[in-house]
Amino acid sequence: MAASLVSCFLVCLLSAYAAMGLLVQYGSTTVGNGNFIPLSSTNSPPTVDIEGFRGNGSVRLFSVVMADQKALPSPNAVYPYINYWIANIPAGSSGTVNGSILEPYVAPSNTSNNIHYPNPFSAKNHTYDFVLVPQRNPLVKPMDSRIVLSLADIIRQYHCGSPLQTVSFTTSLH
Ligand SMILES: *[C@@H]1O[C@H](CO)[C@@H](O)[C@H](O)[C@H]1NC(C)=O
Ligand SMILES: *[C@@H]1O[C@H](CO)[C@@H](O)[C@H](O)[C@H]1NC(C)=O
Ligand SMILES: *[C@@H]1O[C@H](CO)[C@@H](O)[C@H](O)[C@H]1NC(C)=O
Ligand SMILES: *[C@@H]1O[C@H](CO)[C@@H](O)[C@H](O)[C@H]1NC(C)=O
Repeated sequence: MAASLVSCFLVCLLSAYAAMGLLVQYGSTTVGNGNFIPLSSTNSPPTVDIEGFRGNGSVRLFSVVMADQKALPSPNAVYPYINYWIANIPAGSSGTVNGSILEPYVAPSNTSNNIHYPNPFSAKNHTYDFVLVPQRNPLVKPMDSRIVLSLADIIRQYHCGSPLQTVSFTTSLH
């Protein structure tokens, strides 16, 4: 009896918790903790919900940026690739976000199709991060290149704050 009360309490607490925060879903599959998602499930853009991020006097807009932070290895560094950038999501929104698309979705398909580079990376499994960042200003200018020095660097260039939440998944590219 006590045990079932406790477990109900935990389940209720967890489901309340699950409804808050950054929620990214490919169909019914939720992105989280680096879970494995088959490539075929990632062809269309995921839905994004930022429930619970209310903003404040200085932050009224958020971005959700999707990146493969190890997209492009070179002899001296590994460069991220920005797969998707939803900008200008109003603080306090709930349900599928309605922001503006700064960078349209590029599926994690064989990224060699996306990265025009002579030597496609060899690792099959790639991890994709979705970061929720606060904006200082509305964002309108698309990126010059989807290949960036680092995720932190491009976020800073767009005058966004540090990630407030990150969710990730892994998929196998081929
Ligand atoms: C507003 O929210 C941002 C992002 O969460 C935070 O960095 C900042 O400190 C907050 N400002 C105030 C005045 O609370
Ligand atoms: C998103 O916002 C645009 C512009 O305000 C509006 O035209 C559109 O109907 C909205 N879509 C949803 C699903 O709320
Ligand atoms: C990935 O790209 C390589 C080189 O272009 C190609 O040989 C391979 O068939 C591609 N795989 C998929 C799943 O598109
Ligand atoms: C890729 O991830 C899958 C699922 O976790 C795993 O079974 C597989 O061994 C991984 N492949 C490589 C090359 O790490």
